[in-house]
Amino acid sequence: MGPVTVRLPIPCLVVLVGPSGSGKSTWAAEHFRPGQTVASDDLRALVGEGRYDQRAGTDAFDVLDLVLERRLRRWLTTVVDTLGLDATRRGQYQAAAARHGVPCHVVVFDTPGSVCRARNRARDRPVPPKVLTGQLAALAPTRAALADEGFEGVHLAGPVELVPRQLFSAPQHAARQREAPMPLRFGLQIPSFTWESGPPGIAARLGEVAAAAEQAGFTSLWVMDHFVQIPQVGPEWQDMLDSYTALGFLAGRTSTIRLGTLVTGVTYRNLAHLAKILATLDVVSGGRAICGLGAAWHEREHKLYGWEFPPTKVRYDLLEDALELLPLMWGSGNPRYTGRTISIPEAICYPRPLQAKIPVLVGGSGETKTLRLVARYADACNLFGDPATVRRKVGILGSHCFDEGRTLASITVTNLSTVLVGRSREEVDRAVERLRPRSASPEDFSTRVSAGTIEDQVGRFRQYVDAGVQTAIVNMPDLDAAAVERFADVIAAFPQEGRGW
Ligand code: UTP
Ligand code: MG
Repeated sequence: MGPVTVRLPIPCLVVLVGPSGSGKSTWAAEHFRPGQTVASDDLRALVGEGRYDQRAGTDAFDVLDLVLERRLRRWLTTVVDTLGLDATRRGQYQAAAARHGVPCHVVVFDTPGSVCRARNRARDRPVPPKVLTGQLAALAPTRAALADEGFEGVHLAGPVELVPRQLFSAPQHAARQREAPMPLRFGLQIPSFTWESGPPGIAARLGEVAAAAEQAGFTSLWVMDHFVQIPQVGPEWQDMLDSYTALGFLAGRTSTIRLGTLVTGVTYRNLAHLAKILATLDVVSGGRAICGLGAAWHEREHKLYGWEFPPTKVRYDLLEDALELLPLMWGSGNPRYTGRTISIPEAICYPRPLQAKIPVLVGGSGETKTLRLVARYADACNLFGDPATVRRKVGILGSHCFDEGRTLASITVTNLSTVLVGRSREEVDRAVERLRPRSASPEDFSTRVSAGTIEDQVGRFRQYVDAGVQTAIVNMPDLDAAAVERFADVIAAFPQEGRGW
């Protein structure tokens, strides 16, 4: 059996513990980039005459402490390469990490004394044998003490896997999901159409991705309702399709998956026209439309297209009018509607949608206004954030539901997040290397896209289920048919039953 893999969160502080010649610096060089390791030996060379200049020791440690502090402040994963045998210093490293909310792990090198001695003898500047003997003798009591020093993990040296912090404890949640499975549906969001093939290839790629999504078990497909790419995703000269034209195309290319925007801004279209667009999508898709609605936010886009970008209050009035008017347009009769921003003498929309009511999803997590509108009018919501945040928002939505005389169970809670999935850690790491912008470190990028194995993702989504989510909507930085197919194993870990879509 090989050595156990050392699973570490991003970011973390790794404190090495081991006598001279036990292989600490070799291990650090193998698993971390040079800049990520702060080594007392290197710093002695920097502030003193060389790596072995013991008189420079105090200064070297001062510099080490400073570098450590600055790196922790930036949440940078860092390895402290010192002997690690001094309990006071270990306590200081740990306290520094704790001050910045960075988890602190220890890696112990229990290389046999005979090996350390032999390596030491082979060095051009060996440590005095007596000193090494002292270090070797100190290792056992140090190891015994480590268990009670409050580190988040104490590991024996071995191969390393660095895992984004939000996935770090995922395996235990994945195990719970295996033992007592909970249902969860999955939606696929396509926020970007910038693919190698350029505009001539967009339709083909979109069709392939949609077919793969349906095949993989996704139950909904989403596009944004934007006219230029949004800054969170890319520059505004990137390709962006009109939302409902794209959904009409996707309706023709798929047969079971639901289709919607995440979410339609209420400022872009006359609201009665919007009802007509949704009814049409529902009819041509065989009753698969979902109506995503939001108060809109992207002011520059409005300016570019010559739309008014009204103040927040008016945008919420528009949203509330849409929530009232659209069901009237879709429903029976031809009622008059007098709203806050629009008046309709007769709500007429033929053909009516095939669904008795097109489900309405309100986007946004605003606790006082948006979630109240969800409770009053909507069939679904979309909440951002980590599981703890989502859980809190669901609680607030629950209290709005109580006020409105509705049950929380009548609302489908969705969450949007980005995922990068690999079948193995190696595949994940390769994908991160291939996809990350040169300006982003692997740690930064893998955290942003929640890069992880199937197991990691299953555990992460289980935490969202526990937080009250029924549908996880994901987007993928490597979106193509193959990436969608890889995700099928995540979906397969969740029973496709219960409410929602
Ligand atoms: P290191 O230089 O990695 O040890 O290895 P260390 O723990 O950091 O030691 P100090 O505390 O700085 O003195 C010591 C020697 O052992 C070899 C390395 O090439 C180096 O010459 N080594 C290390 C191996 O041959 N195999 C290993 O797995 C690790
Ligand atoms: Mg070393």
